[in-house]
Amino acid sequence: MKVTIRINGDVLSAYIPKKDLEEPIISVEDEDLRGGSILLRNGWRLALPHLPQDTRLPVTVEARRMSGRPDRGAHEKPDRMTTIGETSSSQNAAAKLAKNQKLQPWPALTRTAYEDVAACISSGELSGSGLGIINAFERRMEEWIGDGYVVSASSGTAALTVALIALGIQPGDVVLLPSYTWAATALAPLLIGAIPRFVDIDPNSYNISPTSLAAAITPDVKAIIVVHMHGISCDMDEIICHARDQGVPVIKDCAQAHGALYKGQHVGLLSDIGCFSMQKSKHLSAGDGGFMVTRDAALAQKMRDICNFGLPTPKANYRFDEVARDGYAVFRECEQVGGMFRLQPMSAALVMHQLEHLRQRITWLQTAMESLVEEAAKIPFFKIMRSHVDRTHVWHKIRVGIDYTAVDYFGRSMAEIRGGCATPLPSAASRAPCGRRLYSHSRRPLGPMPAQSSGPNPVAILRSKTRSSSSMRTIP
Ligand SMILES: Cc1ncc(COP(=O)(O)O)c(C=O)c1O
Repeated sequence: MKVTIRINGDVLSAYIPKKDLEEPIISVEDEDLRGGSILLRNGWRLALPHLPQDTRLPVTVEARRMSGRPDRGAHEKPDRMTTIGETSSSQNAAAKLAKNQKLQPWPALTRTAYEDVAACISSGELSGSGLGIINAFERRMEEWIGDGYVVSASSGTAALTVALIALGIQPGDVVLLPSYTWAATALAPLLIGAIPRFVDIDPNSYNISPTSLAAAITPDVKAIIVVHMHGISCDMDEIICHARDQGVPVIKDCAQAHGALYKGQHVGLLSDIGCFSMQKSKHLSAGDGGFMVTRDAALAQKMRDICNFGLPTPKANYRFDEVARDGYAVFRECEQVGGMFRLQPMSAALVMHQLEHLRQRITWLQTAMESLVEEAAKIPFFKIMRSHVDRTHVWHKIRVGIDYTAVDYFGRSMAEIRGGCATPLPSAASRAPCGRRLYSHSRRPLGPMPAQSSGPNPVAILRSKTRSSSSMRTIP
């Protein structure tokens, strides 16, 4: 059969034109593809002819299928190695969708990722604090960010919750946050009994408006969470200035902003604590996971303890199964309220290798987005938000504002054709069962877009990466 070997970033894939089948290569017998065999994600092992060392990709060759039963089709059950990450039927359905759309599943995993996860499973270090793989991930992340202390967590939501606890936020304290964000930003304060209070966003940046923020800082406000939506930083200088004036700490929700810079600095490092998500769709993807970054060593240690039941987390290894005490005795060692918010070691293993290529992927995205933004801006209804000169956008998503007054080349208004173009914003949060609780704490009604009258409505967010799900959806 004819097989085209392609490379996209560092991800190799084999494209079999006849069957319209593109499969990531998960194992290469010879790293340089000089002969030998390749193992595809669908379980097929293909023997390749000799390829000269300087072969440039893509290349089409005649290959022979050595294993993988034909009657199983494109989605035959993968072998032991490939079952990692292929556990549910919905994932298979997503992979099928991706294949039909010729998209690569996200995250794009190299062979090293499979090996790292397998090594983690073999090591038996699957739970506990102070584990080698977790420490290694945190140190690598610190190097990548360039400064600060990184503390891993089980999710972005956990990271935000832990940050609030570490800053001493108490039940009844008010936490300011933007009215346009993903639910987790508001749920984190609610989880600890604090009160989320919403602040308008800037109609041009869609991030929290520093002016509205300044007006909202009242004496009952004990923390501010700002969100770098879709991969672009907020106006941090102004925000930090207002917050410092009032002595209020700032948490940055950087769930969508891995690698984003503000005036040359990594967004995670500005002000008190940066909280990141490593959920599947994010630039750095552990399946699920998160981490916090801070420049304050004591705060970092506190967050580490909170992630570990509030126990003093080992400078050296400490595991429950190694402590010869009963559960109650262990409980007496809890120095503060905490929970089980630790990152799963297999997730750390899955994400490790991605760090090596993250910068390259972001650069690739930035280049691709430049042309996409250019083209999208030609569409009459679209108002595309561009990056600011003082910040580096990492394009988690593309914001598309709709100008409802415009008409297309055929004289149709957006109202006429919207159904076929994009999904409208979700209805007001106050209508959701949990939103009623948010609403009761909020000073103003939660509408779909607070600055509606003065700016474009972000009705559709185009995903900025190839994913295994729909390519157009609403926030987040
Ligand atoms: C802005 C924002 N904050 C917080 C989160 C929560 O992260 P996680 O899903 O890892 O809990 C997300 C996740 O999508 C997000 O987009």
